[in-house]
Amino acid sequence: MVKICCIGAGYVGGPTMAVIALKCPDIEVAVVDISVPRISAWNSDTLPIYEPGLDDVVKQRRGKNLFFSTDVEKHVMEADIVFVSVNTPTKTQGLGAGKAADLTYWESAARMIADVSKSDKIVVEKSTVPVKTAEAIEKILTHNSKGINFQILSNPEFLAEGTAIQDLFNPDRVLIGGRETPAGEKAIQELKKVYARWVPEEQIICSNLWSAELSKLAANAFLAQRISSVNAMSALCEATGADVTQVSHAVGKDTRIGPKFLNASVGFGGSCFQKDILNLVYICECNGLPEVANYWKQVIKINDYQKSRFVNRVVSSMFNTVSGKKIAILGFAFKKDTGDTRETPAIDVCKGLLGDKARLSIYDPQVNEEQIQRDLAMKKFDWDHPIHLQPLSPTAVKQVSVVWDAYAATKDAHGICILTEWDEFKSLDYKKIYDQMQKPAFVFDGRNVVDAEKLRQIGFIVYSIGKPLDDWLKDMPAIA
Ligand code: UDX
Ligand code: ADP
Repeated sequence: MVKICCIGAGYVGGPTMAVIALKCPDIEVAVVDISVPRISAWNSDTLPIYEPGLDDVVKQRRGKNLFFSTDVEKHVMEADIVFVSVNTPTKTQGLGAGKAADLTYWESAARMIADVSKSDKIVVEKSTVPVKTAEAIEKILTHNSKGINFQILSNPEFLAEGTAIQDLFNPDRVLIGGRETPAGEKAIQELKKVYARWVPEEQIICSNLWSAELSKLAANAFLAQRISSVNAMSALCEATGADVTQVSHAVGKDTRIGPKFLNASVGFGGSCFQKDILNLVYICECNGLPEVANYWKQVIKINDYQKSRFVNRVVSSMFNTVSGKKIAILGFAFKKDTGDTRETPAIDVCKGLLGDKARLSIYDPQVNEEQIQRDLAMKKFDWDHPIHLQPLSPTAVKQVSVVWDAYAATKDAHGICILTEWDEFKSLDYKKIYDQMQKPAFVFDGRNVVDAEKLRQIGFIVYSIGKPLDDWLKDMPAIA
């Protein structure tokens, strides 16, 4: 029986391995992690991550051919294929600080693999990493190999959170990079056989190691660039009276451009986009390509601009001050259908409003108070370390309360900011909400989920990203 072990039971490792176990009942899959609470949660009824459809897949295979364990060394030793899906934070100190990936966790995983292995193994890079990481890992493994043969593959994951299970069931493509040697080719074929159980062969792309690594960074950079492009347009739409939804629709009808990923928003978030672009920027700089580096940097700059523009809209609309005012924050996760808050635009928007002394009442259907408080107190880039290495529960931000209901969040509020596009925010009873708010009552829709006209009829002053401005906002400055 082929044995697979995955180091790192996070948003990538957990769902990916659960689907491999479901599709390959004859393969034994062990997901291991150094975090005891995380593994306990994977073994309980409340999984550590919220992902539609995941519970069902885990329940079907757990205890049969899917195991979650903290016994990292034992499972690595027994495995034929070892996936590595550990944290790769952005460095905060030293060479490349603020840009380069910190490969500490990857390196320690590689050294451990070399240490405990007694048989040949295929080691698969699954975390997003800078180009040429595989080469570095290969060096660590071969220099410590004690005669064991390690083949390194890069098999980047393209799943998006909230749709992870569907993305894994029907991926647009699976990418496997490896060495262009007979042993490398053989390893690629071994991994290909696993995916070929459910992915059509023509969708499994094989390439060299560096192409695979760079393709992942490039794909995320292109996606993020689309959002920054439409968000840049949203500012121009507000200035000129055009409607960004109509512009996106018209632009997306061009089959060369396509309709997906053109929703203007308060900004993109998530664990990948910013980190991957920073990585790309760093690689370009290291390779003497400052023009290319600056081109990609601009994608992040527009994203930051969009978040501060939003905060400025809120503050300037409310008589240039939110000091002491209650602002309801609806949605904190970086997108709907996930409880993940990594790099969520809500963090910067909330910090911006707190900087202007607002009182915040936050509601998100999937994010709890501890997480929100931790996020608001955390330093940039600290989020991407294993939980036991993150700063202990910081002192709670006093001006923030977290509630479990949109009506409680909005009671007596002066304004509402919608920061995640949860479906339930579309069908709230906005008349009821209006009646219990301070007047004038404001809605700032950072995801274009509400029907602005209907809300205006109720009496709200409404700001929607990239839409023609309410008369109230027309003469107010919102330049970031
Ligand atoms: C992304 C990539 O899509 C995925 O392929 C990769 O493996 C990991 O990074 P993820 O971060 O989970 O996935 O979510 P995604 O759906 O890409 O959304 C990222 C951010 O962009 C979210 O904050 C989302 O709200 C925002 N977004 C997305 C927009 O603002 N507008 C859009 O049109 C689409
Ligand atoms: P991703 O979104 O890429 O899946 P996560 O941060 O959710 O990333 O998961 C990474 C996981 O890797 C964490 O649960 C962390 O505890 C685990 N991890 C980090 N280093 C090691 C290691 N050396 N051995 C085992 N697990 C590790």
